[in-house]
Amino acid sequence: MVGITSVYKALPLLAASALAGVNYPAIPEDLTTPFQQRLAVYGPNAVSLGWNTYEKLNQSCVVYGTSASSLSSRSCSSASSTYDTSRTWSNAVVLNGLTPATTYYYKIVSGNSTMGHFMSPRTPGDKTSFSMDVVIDLGVYGRDGFTVDSKKKDTIPVVEPELNHSTIGRLAQTVNDYEIVIHPGDFGYSDDWYLKFSNILQGKEAYQAILEQFYEQLAPIAGRKLYMASPGNHEADCSEIPYLLELCPEGQKNFTDFMHRYEKTMPTPFASSSSNKSAQALAAKARSSANPPFWYSFEYGMAHIVMIDTETDFPDAPDGTDGSAKLNSGPFGKSGQQLEFLKADLASVDRSVTPWVIVAGHRPWYTTGTGNGCDSCQAAFENIFYKYGVDLGVFGHVHNSQRFAPVVNGTADVNGMENPKAPMYIIAGGAGNIEGLSSVGSKPDYTEFAYADDYSYASITFVDEKNLKVDFIRSSTGDILDSSTLYKEHGTQFIVQ
Ligand SMILES: *[C@@H]1O[C@H](CO)[C@@H](O)[C@H](O)[C@H]1NC(C)=O
Ligand SMILES: *[C@@H]1O[C@H](CO)[C@@H](O)[C@H](O)[C@H]1NC(C)=O
Ligand SMILES: *[C@@H]1O[C@H](CO)[C@@H](O)[C@H](O)[C@H]1NC(C)=O
Ligand SMILES: *[C@@H]1O[C@H](CO)[C@@H](O)[C@H](O)[C@H]1NC(C)=O
Ligand SMILES: *[C@@H]1O[C@H](CO)[C@@H](O)[C@H](O)[C@H]1NC(C)=O
Ligand SMILES: *[C@@H]1O[C@H](CO)[C@@H](O)[C@H](O)[C@H]1NC(C)=O
Repeated sequence: MVGITSVYKALPLLAASALAGVNYPAIPEDLTTPFQQRLAVYGPNAVSLGWNTYEKLNQSCVVYGTSASSLSSRSCSSASSTYDTSRTWSNAVVLNGLTPATTYYYKIVSGNSTMGHFMSPRTPGDKTSFSMDVVIDLGVYGRDGFTVDSKKKDTIPVVEPELNHSTIGRLAQTVNDYEIVIHPGDFGYSDDWYLKFSNILQGKEAYQAILEQFYEQLAPIAGRKLYMASPGNHEADCSEIPYLLELCPEGQKNFTDFMHRYEKTMPTPFASSSSNKSAQALAAKARSSANPPFWYSFEYGMAHIVMIDTETDFPDAPDGTDGSAKLNSGPFGKSGQQLEFLKADLASVDRSVTPWVIVAGHRPWYTTGTGNGCDSCQAAFENIFYKYGVDLGVFGHVHNSQRFAPVVNGTADVNGMENPKAPMYIIAGGAGNIEGLSSVGSKPDYTEFAYADDYSYASITFVDEKNLKVDFIRSSTGDILDSSTLYKEHGTQFIVQ
């Protein structure tokens, strides 16, 4: 979300403001020093690790093992990529052959790296209870006001030693309470730099500096927990201000940083673990039409999780080349590819293996307030969600927390939370960023919870095959603001309704 009108109003004043200094992070002496570590589920027995360096690596390697004193496995790749305006290279390695749900220690091979650890993914069909946190619309933090004072944009934030972005801080403090994180869009908000006119001359550098700082701030979480990314409008280009689009430099258009950062670390859908041949064929089709990091799926224990792209690649997609957001991006696949992927992927899910199906994207269609919903997203996706029995739709973009009763075509399911046929929907867009919170506004009658008083995020607990708990957590205090449980019978192995 962004308030374009406030920028136009501010223009005359801004011209008089002093030029801000670009405050890039220091380049380390050892250019192989890893920064911005990010882990992800990559397969049933595989985890990817991405990181950035201030020089191109000819070979990127990671050593790992189940004991901190014996990192006996080694994975390497020669992937090291950059783009026009970036000072860093993105590196990526896949750690294969992992024993499920086991602690692994890892060290990026460098003259200057430290050891980290993570828990490998649960096997699809493992019915152990676990929690998954949801953060969307996160943003950088720092003493210069990003996140903390949503009005101040005079200097680029500096990373403070204290981890006190309230949401990142809470994720750090509760690190043993959840196993994975999903983040469907809007990461660093580096494009918001251009919202202040006097910043324009240094916009190109500032954009990169903010990205470097944001992903370094996130590394204590993303380098510790499996952290799944998909795109939001703030990843699209240098600015959301339409008149600036033409001025965006190469490297700051068309999701470039997002692609470099995540294209080699987000997974393709897993091969089906169902014994049903038709499900196996559908899963194979989903694999060939997925396009990570834009649209893809993965499985983790009881959950089949699909990440969709609400920005490009469906009719009237808001960030598409003729889209309403005027962000002139994509397409990233062939015409119809994303929807073809989604149908095949959902149809392939064997509920006896993964009873829970969650689909997450950036822009919602069910939301409080007026003018916040994405109608073209609803037109493209809602019927598919319903037909294949999606249990929960997870969105952000609107900067607050919301929960809706199971609903389809704007009508609440008569069964409510007791075995509904329609999906339940949440918005978890209140994680905190420089734009601040959005007021709740008018509430549709299927609204169950709406909160915009402080930064917050969601935590989803897969309790068992029939119960899913959704909590909203106030980032600054850890208080549970709202808790609900969705009951689903999940008696049908392949849902088509
Ligand atoms: C080693 O890495 C740390 C960050 O992890 C960095 O602050 C330091 O400058 C690096 N040292 C050298 C010699 O590059
Ligand atoms: C990478 O390879 C190039 C060309 O072979 C060489 O000049 C460069 O020093 C190497 N870089 C590193 C970090 O080893
Ligand atoms: C961040 O944490 C430090 C130390 O805990 C504190 O001094 C500072 O005020 C905090 N900043 C904000 C904005 O909460
Ligand atoms: C096999 O899976 C398909 C969906 O891919 C489903 O329609 C069909 O009923 C399943 N067959 C059996 C025997 O479960
Ligand atoms: C954006 O990137 C994709 C993939 O590289 C490309 O196919 C598409 O044409 C680009 N879109 C624009 C508007 O440049
Ligand atoms: C929702 O509306 C669409 C389009 O009008 C229709 O095709 C679909 O059957 C409706 N779904 C349900 C469950 O009512």
